[in-house]
Order: sequence, then structure tokens, then C-alpha cells
Amino acid sequence: MNLPDRETAHQILAEAEARNPGPWAAHSRCAAQAAAILASGHPQLDPEAAYVLGLLHDIGRREGVTAMRHILDGYRYLEGLGYSAAARISLTHSYPIADLKCAAGLWDASEAEAQFVQDYLLRTPYDAYDHLIQLCDALSLPDGFCLIEKRIVDVALRYGVGPCSVARWQRYFEIQAEFERAIGHSIYAHLPGVVENTFAVLPNTGQAAAFLPKPLSQESR
Ligand SMILES: [Fe+2]
Repeated sequence: MNLPDRETAHQILAEAEARNPGPWAAHSRCAAQAAAILASGHPQLDPEAAYVLGLLHDIGRREGVTAMRHILDGYRYLEGLGYSAAARISLTHSYPIADLKCAAGLWDASEAEAQFVQDYLLRTPYDAYDHLIQLCDALSLPDGFCLIEKRIVDVALRYGVGPCSVARWQRYFEIQAEFERAIGHSIYAHLPGVVENTFAVLPNTGQAAAFLPKPLSQESR
């Protein structure tokens, strides 16, 4: 697999975060941890590769505050570095359904670029790494892991919903079920902090906070 090692991947992410600071970088580090944890219980996945793929999946954010074009920017950047396995994940991570119309965000690139991404998705049968990062993207907030349902609502509140929303959510739950069959447990049994992050439980008291969860950031992640 054409991937940087963990240290190099962290350097790539740090440089990108300096160019475009935002919660997306913490979200990426969280997705990397989730990917490594879930991969360690999966018979076909390498936790180290999973970690690096999670770390770099949103690296297109280095180019600035954009919507869906971050996947294409990340693909081009990583291909340019020779990391084709990570470049692939940059394109596939936002599309549990391989249809450009079914992304959660707006497509802010040219028609030719959109066509390139659509063609790429159609000729790329997803493997377990594609599904792993799609799943980890869907459960990683900047502050930690959470219930997929919470993250889905977080994204819907920021970007709105469309005709594909329910089908895309359904697909996340199918991918979750695939992983749970493979690892033999609930994915949440392996991810620390899900209860605290999802339900705003105060960690030192075990009691639910009497206020609503933190306001959602307006910045993309
Ligand atoms: Fe992401």
C-alpha cells in the first residue's frame, strides 16, 4: 500500500493544519485513532495503515475552507506525493453511496472535476479500508468518538439534508453492521468516551450535563 509512515503522516497533517487551522485536524486525528482501534479487531485490516488513512482522509482541507472539493484537493495532493492508497481514501471517504449527488456537502468544483470524481467512484469497488474510513469519519467529532447518529445530525444541521440523506444514513448503518460482524462486538465497545461525547455526561460525576451539548462549529470538518 502506498502510504507514508505514521510520523510522516503527522507532519503532513500538522503542515496542513498550519495552512488552514480548524477543527477538521482534530477530527482527523480522532478518525485515525478510531480506524486503528477497529482495524485491530478486524481479520483483514492493518491497524497502522488504517491509522494513516484516517489521519490523511481530510487532508484536502489544507487548501482552505471548501465544501466537497476538499476530497479532490486531497486526492491531487496525495497522488502528487506518491501516496495513492491515501489519495483513494480522500475521494471515497465522503461517499458511502458512490454517487456524487449523495454527498453531505455542496459540490464546489467545476463540472469536469465533478465528472472525474464520479467516474473514479464508479470504477472503484469499495474495499474494507474505504468502508472503515467512511465509518470512522461518521463517528469522529474533533473532541472524540460519538454515536454515528449524533454525527449524522451534526452534519445535517451544518449542511442540511437532501434526497439521498436517508439512503446515505442507512448505508452507514449497514457498514457498521458489517464491521460488527467482522470484529464480533459493537464498534462502540472498542471506542472510549462514546457515552461522554454523545450524551454530554460529565466525566467525573457520571451525571448528564444540565445544559445542551457544546454549540456546533460553523467550520467544515
Ligand atoms: Fe472527515
